[in-house]
Amino acid sequence: MAPQSTTQHGILLVAFGTTIPEAQAAYHHIEKRIQETYPQIPVRWAYTAAMVRRKLAKQGIIVSSPATALSLMADEGFTHVAVQSLHVIPGLEYHDLLRIAHAMRWLPKGIRQICVGDPLLSTHTDMERTAEGLHQWSLTFRSPHEALVMMGHGTPHPANVYYPGMQYYFDQRDANMVMGTIEGYPTIDNVMTRLKANGIQTVWLMPLLTVAGDHAIKDMAGETDQSWKTILEREGFEVKLMPTGLGMMDAMVDIWIDHLKVAINKLRTDAELR
Ligand code: CO
Repeated sequence: MAPQSTTQHGILLVAFGTTIPEAQAAYHHIEKRIQETYPQIPVRWAYTAAMVRRKLAKQGIIVSSPATALSLMADEGFTHVAVQSLHVIPGLEYHDLLRIAHAMRWLPKGIRQICVGDPLLSTHTDMERTAEGLHQWSLTFRSPHEALVMMGHGTPHPANVYYPGMQYYFDQRDANMVMGTIEGYPTIDNVMTRLKANGIQTVWLMPLLTVAGDHAIKDMAGETDQSWKTILEREGFEVKLMPTGLGMMDAMVDIWIDHLKVAINKLRTDAELR
């Protein structure tokens, strides 16, 4: 059998996914920045959320799962793929992705090497850069006596600790930056306790999510009884909205790109070994 002498590098961007067209602008922004950084390396996409993929398929928009995307990339002739997680924390979606990437390596006539880049928040440095980026950016629209409440997703996975962890990095800069989650800890009740202790009157709400999709529209800014906007207004706070996904912010995209660089460099080093 002839040795596989040629190599073909590719990038697979993997996000949770969104069905909201306006929210997809954040994914487009990330892709544009990555293509500028690596103009020679083709980029493909996958969404980890099956529900999102099914909903999009009904509208005629086909987005692959990570396993399907890697199979298609193998068929296209890619031998080395850097998979970049566009998730925020290394939670359930990220760990599933690691298992899939591991399982898809070294299949006959398939991709030889796959390296996965960390999500946005992984190391101490990521936390510092994220807190600093959000702090600097928020001061362009809020005054220091107004609170910035970041709405994270929250998870039953042990990585939920990244959310209360982020509060530590916020506190190094500004006690009026407050971290909360929809489905984990800290809760909106924890957030309100802190806002009251700080004597806050005006609150800026912003999602700590890659895209400002369904959760930002409904759980954060919605008019229902359970939205954070409604809950905070009921408690007498003035609420202002900043429905911008992290993927729209260059300071955040820079972190994802640095994680992708690590994955690509690892591919190159591994490739030299054989
Ligand atoms: Co969700």
